[in-house]
Amino acid sequence: MRILFVASELFPHVKVGGLGDVMAALPRALRALGADVRLLLPAYPALLAAVGTQGEVAHLPDLMGGGPARILRAEAPGLPLYLLDQPAFFDRPGGPYGHPEDLARRFAALAWAAAHLGRAGDAEGWRPQILHGHDWPTGLMPAYVAYGEGPRPATVMTIHNIAFQGRFPASMLGELRLPRHAFTPEGVEFHGDIGFLKAGLNLADRLSTVSPTYAREIQVAGGHGLEGLLAHRNGSLRGILNGVDHEVWNPAKDPHLVCHYDLKHPARRAPNRPDFQRRMGLQEGAAAPLFAAVSRLDPLKGLDLVLENVDHLVARGAQLAVLGTGDFHAEGAFRQAARRHPGRVAVFIGYDEALAHRAFAAADVLLVPSRQEPCGLTQLYAQVYGALPLVRRTGGLADTVVGVSPDTLADGTATGFQFEAANGWALGEAINGALDLHADPPAWRQVQRRAMAADFSWEAPARAYLDLYATIPSRGS
Ligand code: ADP
Ligand code: GLC
Repeated sequence: MRILFVASELFPHVKVGGLGDVMAALPRALRALGADVRLLLPAYPALLAAVGTQGEVAHLPDLMGGGPARILRAEAPGLPLYLLDQPAFFDRPGGPYGHPEDLARRFAALAWAAAHLGRAGDAEGWRPQILHGHDWPTGLMPAYVAYGEGPRPATVMTIHNIAFQGRFPASMLGELRLPRHAFTPEGVEFHGDIGFLKAGLNLADRLSTVSPTYAREIQVAGGHGLEGLLAHRNGSLRGILNGVDHEVWNPAKDPHLVCHYDLKHPARRAPNRPDFQRRMGLQEGAAAPLFAAVSRLDPLKGLDLVLENVDHLVARGAQLAVLGTGDFHAEGAFRQAARRHPGRVAVFIGYDEALAHRAFAAADVLLVPSRQEPCGLTQLYAQVYGALPLVRRTGGLADTVVGVSPDTLADGTATGFQFEAANGWALGEAINGALDLHADPPAWRQVQRRAMAADFSWEAPARAYLDLYATIPSRGS
């Protein structure tokens, strides 16, 4: 089966959030199962510098008003790539979602290039049977397939986060090369605008999102205006959990750790804590329970609930380390909290891959109090690294953490802590629960062992995607 993934991020070269991690791991997991998966991305400078290119496979004159574009073949280790090389759109700093003035045209160009490869194939005759787009930047891809001419590959859209939808003025219809008849609620129209994600969700043959619980939530109240459409397409929508790439997230060989460990040698985890504390400016030592958060600072991530609990954590003798960047006010509030509690609360404002690895290897508890969380990866990484996740019961967090309770402690299934209401008091209660367990080291170790033993490998999710592809009737193209 020939499948072309289409996306805007790829770890380690271009990563804003979990999408980058998934794009590096899922295509490789599918390839390991025998599927011929390739990935189309914009030719970002960081990507071009890292992978090099192997020549042009298609030429697209003046694409979306961004000048001439080429599709280049390239290769990341174990993953064939196509790169959309259109310097006016992609050869500049600012990250994948910067430069708002041409955001719509830039990602329309990417979607158009995907549809072109799906219709015409590359210069060597490779033509995908399935085009699989990820998130709003690729939402117009099923539209270009549906409204275009010629062979029609099957299309799949995966929602990694429905909060980001790509809405642009209706006046752009022509410059985005969409026909007038596409501008209906069954097409690309969304409340008088052009909705990129909406278009993809209307027009793709199959839909998926990144956890079963989120798949249900977005059909009722969590769909940011797309609930009705998703409920209507319920029969075509699957929730498939993300996995962990054990080549990147593995405490037995992680180059960022001062001491490697695994389930058989949990005591070797200990030296990683003072190393992390020193780097963060926290008092060194094992006595204080160490809570951490590694997150984009976005209102949906619920870090304001952590802010409400800073004084509570400190009063209970705990430490708090926050790695994050995003919302300006949240950044300032965490900085202020760190100034109020030197040595007990520390914050790193920014993005640091190595420090994130060290945080998972050092913390006792990883806080993920998200208001909404499609899947979430940090609570998975935390478990693999032996930090117990404390999560709000939503989306993928509900599906991947078994909360401590008398029952789950008795039957040995607990892997972390959960709370329900999205408020600071409920998080505070859950923190108290975590501190109670921490005061009982044998019980803590039991939960930690179970968390570290959990199977989050990508093989099962990759099989679930293959099952989803298999449900698409062939169009004989
Ligand atoms: P989202 O994609 O919504 O941001 P995920 O949990 O799926 O949430 O993925 C977040 C990814 O970004 C993880 O790989 C996490 O380790 C990483 N990350 C988040 N914040 C930081 C940070 N400040 N420094 C380093 N890595 C971070
Ligand atoms: C999104 C979601 C996150 C998910 C990630 C990868 O960024 O916010 O929950 O884990 O995509 O699918």
